[in-house]
Amino acid sequence: MRADLIDRLGCVGRTWTPQQLLHVGNVAWSWSRGDGTPDPDLSLAWGEPLRAYADLWRATLEPATATLHIDPGAGAIERSVILGELRSFDSAITLFASRQDQAQLAALEAAGFVDAAGPWFAQLWRTMSDLSDLEELQPPAGYRIVAVDPADPAAIRERVELHRRSWRPDRIRRLLGMPDSGTTAESSYSEAKHRAVMATPIYRPELDLVALDPDGRWAGYALGWLDQPNGSLLIEPVGTDPDHVRRGLARALCATLLRTARDFGAREAVVGPRGDDRYPLPRRLYQGLGMREVAQFVRFSGPPR
Ligand SMILES: CC(C)(COP(=O)(O)OP(=O)(O)OC[C@H]1O[C@@H](n2cnc3c(N)ncnc32)[C@H](O)[C@@H]1OP(=O)(O)O)[C@@H](O)C(=O)NCCC(=O)NCCS
Repeated sequence: MRADLIDRLGCVGRTWTPQQLLHVGNVAWSWSRGDGTPDPDLSLAWGEPLRAYADLWRATLEPATATLHIDPGAGAIERSVILGELRSFDSAITLFASRQDQAQLAALEAAGFVDAAGPWFAQLWRTMSDLSDLEELQPPAGYRIVAVDPADPAAIRERVELHRRSWRPDRIRRLLGMPDSGTTAESSYSEAKHRAVMATPIYRPELDLVALDPDGRWAGYALGWLDQPNGSLLIEPVGTDPDHVRRGLARALCATLLRTARDFGAREAVVGPRGDDRYPLPRRLYQGLGMREVAQFVRFSGPPR
């Protein structure tokens, strides 16, 4: 399994640009199932060394969904074989692609995929050569920002609970303007998932930052993923405990993350909030860090058989 992850990280990192759908951080985060997806029903790989891979959820997600990465150097025939194989498992499959990836858009169109309405994600980017514009973004009075100690089991548990409070489904529904579902469902994030995150080869505890309030309560966090060879940082995810929101905590955490990552060699940063108007809050958070849109990640679906 771990060999698969290393192959994927190598494949995605080799060709990275800010317009590419996946950053190595996305690969590690979804591998750890931090993104909330269940284990894929099927994983496919093409090429040796790896040139393309896909995870496919055809029974566990509705509609059937795939994550797909293809080396940007792949030609039309190679792409058509890959998409044909993927669609042989479920022709009505839904997947995201970068609007800036012209070769992939052409291949999707040729394979009968259509632009599906619905949520899309904006890729926001900034250079990190000069971060002086972020100097004023400091934690609110009395709060301090520290890195999570990977050797402290109590700290790991606190970190997990903070994520779970930040991502409680009823809270997210409220932020999305959806009616209360009346359920008491909990976030699926767990200690096992966080330990899986920490076990990925690109996790750095120095980029797993939390904010503590004046009484030492865990109030917010931001996790960064550094692609060292490309000098790029992905911010994913960020959360503030509902009792500590709207004090500038998330922005201060991200600003500290950018400064720390710059010291480790990051030269540019990306983050992928919702681009549509349904959930504008994260986009606003990151735009306030001087990040601007450089790509759109949109949903495509194959026609039913
Ligand atoms: C998004 C989130 C991290 C913001 O945390 P926060 O500490 O309250 O954010 P900040 O105080 O730094 O505020 C950042 C910006 O968002 C705005 N904002 C924060 N909460 C808001 C709300 N409920 N409604 C409208 N704007 C809001 C702030 O006004 C500020 O924008 P401005 O300075 O341009 O006015 C927090 O709401 C959260 O954890 N949400 C659930 C998880 C999530 O969506 N994470 C982000 C995607 S990874």
